[in-house]
Amino acid sequence: MPKTKAHPIGVFDSGVGGLTVMRSIVETLPREQVVYLGDTARVPYGNRNAETVRRYARNATDLLREREIKALVVACNTASAHALNALVEAYDVPVIGVIEPVARRAVATTESGVVGVMGTRGTVRSGCYPEAIRAIDSACTVEQVASPLLVPLAEEGWLDDPATERIARHYIDQLSEPDLDTLILGCTHYPILSATLRRLTEEHLEMPVTLLDSASATTRALVDVLDAESIRTQAKDGGELEFLLTDLSPAFVEATERFFGNRPDEITHVDIVA
Ligand code: DGL
Repeated sequence: MPKTKAHPIGVFDSGVGGLTVMRSIVETLPREQVVYLGDTARVPYGNRNAETVRRYARNATDLLREREIKALVVACNTASAHALNALVEAYDVPVIGVIEPVARRAVATTESGVVGVMGTRGTVRSGCYPEAIRAIDSACTVEQVASPLLVPLAEEGWLDDPATERIARHYIDQLSEPDLDTLILGCTHYPILSATLRRLTEEHLEMPVTLLDSASATTRALVDVLDAESIRTQAKDGGELEFLLTDLSPAFVEATERFFGNRPDEITHVDIVA
């Protein structure tokens, strides 16, 4: 079926972290219909093997395709790292991942040419950020640190808790490049911890550091795709938003407010076909 301007944009993440990207999309494109799918029944993806993540990402995309999306945003670094190419090949809608847009912004931002990446084990192991950054500027140095425990801390909303500080410090202390001036929060769960992460990184490196998350660079990439394909909505009114989760436990419902900025009016449970 041909996709038209009136169809929704699909946004997918392993859980609620992708709502940090959804929020930026809705702020930038308020007239678009957007359907969000969080695979809360199977989160976290970060420690899983690449083939499993690809299978999960295909299941999620199949479900969103039933809603006739005109474009798909993979608002999950881990799924973008492992599954983006497979999704681009397998589906006939534009698919926008989070890695490339943020890599571009990091290269444009860094003055020292030294970029740090915090992400899940899967994202870090895949090497997707070093590869994307060096494809743009081969002179850049990229230092990565896998920070898996930040995902549950963000979901629990432990933003200022001493435990979060201790765990974040454990990861940040592993950054050893003295000239690192740009730090990619390479996981869509991390932005809600950004105040703590910035403070600890600047303390550790003893200099100001620019933090980049997935939201605004990915939204910009989405806008470019919608314009290139001439599929921006012509609607005059605000677009409808739909929130789908594969597990509707109260903790996830509560977390949507933290990650999205306000509590969605309605969240629907969906079963994903594995
Ligand atoms: N939000 C996911 C990401 O951006 C990570 C959470 C997970 O481990 O599933 O990588």
